[in-house]
Amino acid sequence: MNNTAIAVKEHDFKSAMRESIPNVDYATHGIHSYTAKLIPHIARHYIGLYTKRDELVLDPFVGSGTTLLEANLLGRNAIGVDINPLAKLISEVKTTPIDIIMLECAVEHVVKGLAETKPVDHVNFPNIDYWFGEKAQKDLARIKSTIEALRVDLEPRIYNFLLVCFSSIIRRSSYADPRIAKTYKSKRMVRKIEDNWYPRPMELFKYALDRNCGRMKNFCKMVNANHSYARVFHGDAREVSSLLQRNGIGKADFIITSPPYINAQDYFRSYKLELYWLGLCTPEQLRLLRQKSIGTESILGFKGDSELEDQVEILGTVCQKISKINPTKSSIVCKYFSNMRLAIEEFNKVLREDGHLCMVTGSNRICGVLVPTYEIIVQMAEARGLKLVELAKDKIRNRRLPPVRNHKAGVIQEEWITVFQKGTNECTDSSCRN
Ligand SMILES: C[S@@+](CC[C@H](N)C(=O)[O-])C[C@H]1O[C@@H](n2cnc3c(N)ncnc32)[C@H](O)[C@@H]1O
Repeated sequence: MNNTAIAVKEHDFKSAMRESIPNVDYATHGIHSYTAKLIPHIARHYIGLYTKRDELVLDPFVGSGTTLLEANLLGRNAIGVDINPLAKLISEVKTTPIDIIMLECAVEHVVKGLAETKPVDHVNFPNIDYWFGEKAQKDLARIKSTIEALRVDLEPRIYNFLLVCFSSIIRRSSYADPRIAKTYKSKRMVRKIEDNWYPRPMELFKYALDRNCGRMKNFCKMVNANHSYARVFHGDAREVSSLLQRNGIGKADFIITSPPYINAQDYFRSYKLELYWLGLCTPEQLRLLRQKSIGTESILGFKGDSELEDQVEILGTVCQKISKINPTKSSIVCKYFSNMRLAIEEFNKVLREDGHLCMVTGSNRICGVLVPTYEIIVQMAEARGLKLVELAKDKIRNRRLPPVRNHKAGVIQEEWITVFQKGTNECTDSSCRN
C-alpha cells in the first residue's frame, strides 16, 4: 500500500553494502543482543547520505545504539535517548573507546577474583527462584560481587563494559527461553530443567569477556582517529526537547530512529532479569517505566484520541475496523499513534531548519487488520510541516521479533524508511499554533 505521491525505492542493503559491512555484529555491534535491532547498513546509508563529518545525529529511541555507533564510525557526533536504562548502558559501552591495556588488566583481575572464595552479596528480586536455579544464582551473584569489589579501582567506562558482559549472559543463565524475545519459560526449557541442565554462568561470562574484548579492540582501531563522541541519556522521546536543552545540547542536524513497533515488544518484560541483576531498577521503577514505554499493550489512563483519528483518515479507518473485532486492541493502536505524534512534535522542535528526519518502521497486522504504520506516520509528520523527501523499503532478515502466534497476528517482513525535511511544508496541525 502506498498512497503518497513519491516513488518507493526498493533496497537490499545487506547485499549492496557487503564490502563496507561484513556482518551485522562487526565492531561493537554484537556486544549485547537487543530485540528489534536495526541493521547497521540502514543507519550507515542514511547517515552518510544526509550528514557531513562532525555534524550531530540524534536517535531518540536509541535501543542498543546501532545508529550511534555507525554515526561515530563515520565521524559524526551522536546523541541517544531511551526509556530503558539497559539500552542506555549498552549504547554507551558500544560507543566508548577503552584503553586496551587497561581493559585487559581489569579483565585479568576479574578472572582472578572469580576464583577467590570471598563473601558474595546476596541478590534478590520477585520470582528469582522461578527464573534461576540455585547454583546459577550463586554463580551470577559471585560474578556481580567480583565486578562490584573492583569498582573503586576501575574507570567507569571499564566498569560499564564489565556490566554489559555480565548482562549479556543473564538470559542464557536463566530458565527463560533464549529463543523467545519475551521472558518466558517454554516447554522446551521445562524439559531441559527436568533433565538437570545447568547453564554454566562462569564459563559463559569468561567467554563473553573474551569476545567483547576482541570487539572493543576492533572498534577502537576503527574509531580512534575520528574524535567523534556519543552521549546517551535515559529519558522519554516525548520530552526530548527539554532533555537536550537541560544538557546544553543544540539542534540536531539529522534524526534517525527506529521506533518501537505497535503491540510487538514489551522491552521491560523482555529485559527485567537483566535490569534486576544489574540493579538498574526496582520492581516499582520498572512498573513506572513500562507505563511510559511506547508500543506496549497497556492502555492504562488512555482516554482515546478522536481528534487524531479524525485528522489522520487512514488511522480512523484502521481503528474502526479493529474496534469491531476487539475494542481494546483498537485503543492500543490509537494510543501508539497518539504517542508517536507527540514524539514527532518533539523531533521537529530539536531538528535544525532544513535538517532531515529518517524513521524506520514496520507495518503489522492487529486482529487481522493491516496497520500501515509508515503511511500514518507520513500523514502525522506532514501535518507538522515536515516534507516527505524519500520513501524506501528493505526486507527484514534479522530483527529478533516475536514469532507469529496465529494467522491474525502480524509478521513484520519489511522495513519502511521515510525521510522528511524540516521547514519545507506548511504546518496544518492546530497544535502548531499553540
Ligand atoms: C525498535 S527499538 C530500537 C532499536 C535500535 N534501533 C537498535 O538498533 O538497537 C525501540 C526502542 O524504543 C524504546 N522506547 C520505547 N518507548 C520509549 C519512550 N517513550 N522514550 C524513549 N524510548 C522509548 C525502547 O526501550 C526500545 O529500546
